[in-house]
Amino acid sequence: MEIQGKTAVVTGGASGIGRGIAHALAEKKAAVIVADLDEKRAVVVAGELEATGVRALGVACDVADEAQVEALADRAWREFGRVDLLFNNAGAAGGAALLDSRAEDLAWLFSVNVFGLWYGCKAFGRRFRDQDTPAWIVNTGSEHSFGVAHLFAGFYTASKHAVLGLSDVLRRELPDHVGVSVLCPGLVDTEFWKAAERRPGQYGGPSDPQAITRAIMARGTNPLDVGRRAVAGVEREDFYIVTHAHARTFAEERYREIMAAFESQAPAQPGDERYDVGTIIRDLLSKNTGV
Ligand SMILES: NC(=O)c1ccc[n+]([C@@H]2O[C@H](COP(=O)([O-])OP(=O)(O)OC[C@H]3O[C@@H](n4cnc5c(N)ncnc54)[C@H](O)[C@@H]3O)[C@@H](O)[C@H]2O)c1
Repeated sequence: MEIQGKTAVVTGGASGIGRGIAHALAEKKAAVIVADLDEKRAVVVAGELEATGVRALGVACDVADEAQVEALADRAWREFGRVDLLFNNAGAAGGAALLDSRAEDLAWLFSVNVFGLWYGCKAFGRRFRDQDTPAWIVNTGSEHSFGVAHLFAGFYTASKHAVLGLSDVLRRELPDHVGVSVLCPGLVDTEFWKAAERRPGQYGGPSDPQAITRAIMARGTNPLDVGRRAVAGVEREDFYIVTHAHARTFAEERYREIMAAFESQAPAQPGDERYDVGTIIRDLLSKNTGV
């Protein structure tokens, strides 16, 4: 995927990884629309990008509100004529032990990380499909998408598994000219430690950041480096975009545990493939059986 001369939308682009992605896109001479809850900071980041010689725009958008995401897409096409890349990057985090957590926390994390991300896939994916030119969607997952299971991160981990699952199906449902990646960073030094300050009233309102979360995140990698890796992953047209080698340990551990369960409980037998649901769906559709 060629980046130069393309137009990209980056949600959550006013800070951290989103800002890193926006700068990495500008380095490749793409025009960038920086969309964020925080309009002031989105406009500041757009100014930084313009200073490097690319076209940029900073706009307000709450990805958890489908109407705002649709309005973002309308505006992007209206003002830039065409959009080619969507980085669905805005995210929420915060957590406690699962048995001490509240339903509102689950609803809030999913409203941004899952519903918000899907609104973006839908609004931009439909337009990409109809535009019929090469396009790409990058969904920000996490190392939590494939097996990192820290204490107190149950809801966040569930939401990032949802990002991976949704992206994996989406890439098969979209036409060939629209690609999908899932960006799975490990620890990155951003302002994510204070994400709970943005929790809306309907989910319990803002809560104070925890000092330990700040101290943990300060040990993370540089967001611009992650942004560059995200853009390079799109250029290579990779589905998985990974950034932290250590996360491999967790992915391998999960894979080994799953394989060991199959070996001991359900070893392969001739004819197993008759239960492959994807094949069954294709078979039923091809026979036009009316189901
Ligand atoms: N920092 C990490 O270690 C890390 C690791 C893996 C994945 N991630 C993911 O990276 C993404 C970006 O996080 P970050 O670390 O850069 O954090 P950050 O807090 O620095 O940036 C997040 C940005 O998203 C915006 N935002 C939050 N909710 C929004 C909403 N509803 N609508 C629009 N914008 C919204 C914020 O205003 C902020 O500018 C998230 O999806 C997060 O889950 C972060």
